[in-house]
Amino acid sequence: EKAGYDWFMRKEIYEQPKAVLDTLLGRYNEARELTLDEVRIADSELKRINKIIIVACGTAFYSGLVAKYAIEHWCRIPCEVEIASEFRYRDPIITSETLLVTISQSGETADTLMAVRHAREQGAKVIAICNTNGATIPRESDAVIYTHAGPEIGVASTKGFTTQIAAAYLLGLYLAQVRGTKFGDEIAAVMTELESMPEKIQRVLDNTDQFHALATRLSDKRSVLFLGRHVGYPIALEGALKLKEIAYLHAEGFPAGELKHGPIALVEPGIPIFVVVPPHGRDQLHDKVISNIQEVRARGAQTIVLVEEGDTEVEPYADEVIWLPKASTLLQPLLAIVPLQIFACEVATRLGHDVDQPRNLAKSVTVE
Ligand code: F6R
Repeated sequence: EKAGYDWFMRKEIYEQPKAVLDTLLGRYNEARELTLDEVRIADSELKRINKIIIVACGTAFYSGLVAKYAIEHWCRIPCEVEIASEFRYRDPIITSETLLVTISQSGETADTLMAVRHAREQGAKVIAICNTNGATIPRESDAVIYTHAGPEIGVASTKGFTTQIAAAYLLGLYLAQVRGTKFGDEIAAVMTELESMPEKIQRVLDNTDQFHALATRLSDKRSVLFLGRHVGYPIALEGALKLKEIAYLHAEGFPAGELKHGPIALVEPGIPIFVVVPPHGRDQLHDKVISNIQEVRARGAQTIVLVEEGDTEVEPYADEVIWLPKASTLLQPLLAIVPLQIFACEVATRLGHDVDQPRNLAKSVTVE
């Protein structure tokens, strides 16, 4: 049932092109309209929303952090992202104009479920992004957008993550369509790019030799850091989480701009640092990340840089370059996470760990 793969996790990493494709399928019609039929909340209600709160745990929380950038950009609605176990107990501000969006692969995570119940009691509408048909969270929500990743068996979430981003982006575009904050042409442009992502993810998966060698070189390290800015920041967090949970290595993700406010003190000669470089854009993001790479390199870090094809500016400061197919800033996370997933899987395999069933972890956490 692992279809020739050593681990379910690896199989699921390789299923991502199809999982993302299936999640996009049938949700954007010939008339260039998003048709999220499952979202049975009246347009008039969606137009009244003045705040979105995304609530989730772990990997799903990181997909929510990615989604926030896109949703605020497309919809101009303030969007908060909160860890479910923190949300419920701090008297959050929820009204009938709040839209709560939960993200949960299993649909059974207790903390996330409690957030749903609490938000509905306060009159909020709740949309669940979920991978499991008929699970408790979607049953207790006003609407559900299913990710079509298929069953995820490896405890470490992989295709769950990328399909959650895809589904949350569909929701963001749908809200933009309903509320008129983006025109049809703009939505079409994003959809065209989204639809090209499965093939680009496949290209990343077809070029993995480098990750195996890298994993061998890095598997005796005690600590690994990950840096990113903008949507690259949650990717850094998720890359670090993968390494913690299956390789049991100390790993931390930081916003690259925070380095000088503390974390740079951790940088010592030989420490591996993964850096996600955003594509060149109108903003200064790209150049800022390049200077962050120089800063850590000057202190002896071993830099492993994920950057789009053709962007050679960073090469002089990179010990290793992982080339990514070209994508816009908002869509790059769907590519940048893949090498980090494979890297974690490779390191854990080399260290002799059970990749699919890491110690102390359960696939679905049904207690608070
Ligand atoms: C990490 C991982 C966990 C889950 C978290 C939420 O690889 O699997 O962090 O993402 O427990 O689970 P769901 O999405 O089922 O609510």
